[in-house]
Amino acid sequence: MKLSRTRLDRFVSLHTDIAKNSIRLLIAQKKITINGLLAHSANQTITPFDQVNVTGKMLPHKTAHYVVLHKPKGVVSATRDDKNQTVLDIIQHPHKDELHIAGRLDFNTTGLMLLSNDGFWTRHLSLPELCIQKHYLVTTADPITEQYRTQFLAGIDFNFEGITTKPAVLTIINSHQAELALTEGRYHQVKRMFGFFNNTVTQLHRFAIGPLHLPANLAPGNYAELTQQQAYSMLKPNNSNQITPKPD
Ligand code: URA
Repeated sequence: MKLSRTRLDRFVSLHTDIAKNSIRLLIAQKKITINGLLAHSANQTITPFDQVNVTGKMLPHKTAHYVVLHKPKGVVSATRDDKNQTVLDIIQHPHKDELHIAGRLDFNTTGLMLLSNDGFWTRHLSLPELCIQKHYLVTTADPITEQYRTQFLAGIDFNFEGITTKPAVLTIINSHQAELALTEGRYHQVKRMFGFFNNTVTQLHRFAIGPLHLPANLAPGNYAELTQQQAYSMLKPNNSNQITPKPD
């Protein structure tokens, strides 16, 4: 679904019989509010979720949804699939037809997935300049050594893409388990990074994205919702406060 941003004057003239060039006057007369705050410019950008009130009349707007899903194993991170169940098939969200996925997990990877109908938010979640960390618990077939830690910090060449992975932080828990924090999401990235050492990832679980942790009481297949304020606070660089979503 295309959810584009529009200038305030265009938005108001689209939804009312007020001409675009009359909007400045209405703003000066304090007759337009956006989400309860006075509009200050005809150029302000409006999202489909903004509540624009013109001379006491609310213009049409959508409700944004921010879904935190505990993805179980054996489910495809897609909105449609001919063979397997998708993450959308397993949830009963009333607006699931509007939702799209922010960052995929492999078929057998479990853990935190985000879905939303707010395209602006999902696009910003993956902006490299925001450096939002994704945290994984990794279990491997062979022992993990200190050498992995140094190599992951230095980066690994992914010849197919012609890139070197960004510094990633590995915290070794025991001989076959570690936590890995990445700031990017290349195809099969974690498996390929461990593959550099010919070590197979036997289990992979994403437990956090930035300040948002998968709630301990959210069972596989269940979801919770974030408020818009919680969702947007994830986009603040270096946000260290933990966000707790409310269960469905
Ligand atoms: N890296 C992987 O290899 N798989 C995932 O599902 C996520 C990150």
